Amino acid sequence: MRKIFPPDDLARDERFHRVHLVERMTDGRSADNSRGPGRGPGRLTPARADAPDAARALMHGIFTGEIQALEGAGRTCWDFPIGAKPTEEEPDAVPFELKLDMARQCWDEARHCEISVRLSEWMGTEIGEFSESPFLYEAACNTDPVLRLTGVNRALEGLAIDVFNTMREFGDAAGDPVLEFCEDWMLADEVTHVKMGSDWLRRLTATDPERQARALEFQKVVDKLFSLGGFRGEDDDSPVRLARRFRELAGFDTDEMDELAEISRSARDEADRIRQESAAEAP
Ligand SMILES: [Fe+2]
Ligand SMILES: [Fe+2]
Repeated sequence: MRKIFPPDDLARDERFHRVHLVERMTDGRSADNSRGPGRGPGRLTPARADAPDAARALMHGIFTGEIQALEGAGRTCWDFPIGAKPTEEEPDAVPFELKLDMARQCWDEARHCEISVRLSEWMGTEIGEFSESPFLYEAACNTDPVLRLTGVNRALEGLAIDVFNTMREFGDAAGDPVLEFCEDWMLADEVTHVKMGSDWLRRLTATDPERQARALEFQKVVDKLFSLGGFRGEDDDSPVRLARRFRELAGFDTDEMDELAEISRSARDEADRIRQESAAEAP
């Protein structure tokens, strides 16, 4: 079986529609323009006129993310040779215990797929009603296992912690216990997955500070990419809130979380600047 399976070849049936992430984020059904054109949807609250569609779109995004998380963790069980330490012949060798953790994660993600399908049904959504962008799986194609785990388990599953927590709070505010409990259960597993990323990053790079720096740099690049216009932040109107307490449980320290908040703030300032410039240029 081949190593590093290309994202274009992932198995999907005709219900799934793949688009670029930017197209997905600007889907008219979930873009509330009441805050000004292109200003983003703001915080998800039941009071918003577009709340049902925005919640369904976000949940469908979670669902496709779960499929990719399962595929990515499955690949990590297979793509790398087993070895206590990397060698010259096998610089990408990983301990068997890392693969056991990834196998456990596969089981969790498979369960999350099932929960997401049923929860989406409960919310009135059909599979494929919203599109899919394979960004999580793409990060899971990194050929260095340390970079892969840092990019996927710390950056993207860290984002999943923020998203699940936001959706859980929305379920509570909307008086929907099914939504609230489903998100709560999945959130608990995601904290474990992010902690696996934190623990393996520390273990695999204990004697290789250069590799650790490279992995943290890759994580930062992924974090920047997914801070899209300040989408995840700590302002009252941030669509997704940084879940500090859960991230702390998953091995993030305060400096790292402060840095994440800063990345998000500058992404938001940058988006505001671009918007003002294009408004000024408009005839
Ligand atoms: Fe998951
Ligand atoms: Fe996960």
